[in-house]
Amino acid sequence: MITKTKRLYIRELIIDDAVHFFNINNNPNCIKYTGDNPFESIKTAENFLEEYIQQYKDYNMGRWAVCLRETDEFLGWCGLKYHPKENVTDIGYRLYQTHWNKGYATEATKACLDYGFNHLNLNRIVAHVHIDNKSSHKVALKSGLIYMKYFIYDGKPAKLYQIKKNEYLGNN
Ligand SMILES: CC(C)(COP(=O)(O)OP(=O)(O)OC[C@H]1O[C@@H](n2cnc3c(N)ncnc32)[C@H](O)[C@@H]1OP(=O)(O)O)[C@@H](O)C(=O)NCCC(=O)NCCS
Repeated sequence: MITKTKRLYIRELIIDDAVHFFNINNNPNCIKYTGDNPFESIKTAENFLEEYIQQYKDYNMGRWAVCLRETDEFLGWCGLKYHPKENVTDIGYRLYQTHWNKGYATEATKACLDYGFNHLNLNRIVAHVHIDNKSSHKVALKSGLIYMKYFIYDGKPAKLYQIKKNEYLGNN
């Protein structure tokens, strides 16, 4: 268990979550702005998840499962990823489409920022959002991230958001 919110809990991913990664990426709407492809099989999703799980050991953080407290349902994932080359931690989120627009991504993102600053003692967390990904821009802003600049990320037009620890602690 990483953390809890009013409606959600956030836990470490396990290999058995691969079926959810497979299902989510199989919906073109879920990967429209992310630059990802559908997984070829659940086995491929398992291999991918192994890398995510390794990040818990390497960096004490990673992408995590977002689940509903009331039913234990797996809604999607959210969490912090450390990029060693750039020495940057970003936040990402992706949910089953059936659970969009219920405020879950914002609730989970706020909890991950809190964990990052208060538990992991990070200094800065960023988000990269494709220019046309309207709901993701909203999640970033509603969670307290601040728009920094327009730039090209992974070859696509994007906006960079960030929040620093002192800004976060000043607001919360
Ligand atoms: C991005 C994503 C995680 C958002 O999840 P979510 O749980 O629906 O987010 P929330 O409900 O917390 O907030 C979404 C906000 O966007 C708004 N929104 C949704 N579609 C919108 C649109 N087309 N135009 C403008 N705003 C829109 C919602 O109304 C809501 O804002 P509100 O609370 O002010 O009403 C979800 O859409 C998703 O999984 N997308 C696919 C993966 C992805 O693109 N991830 C982000 C990569 S940077």
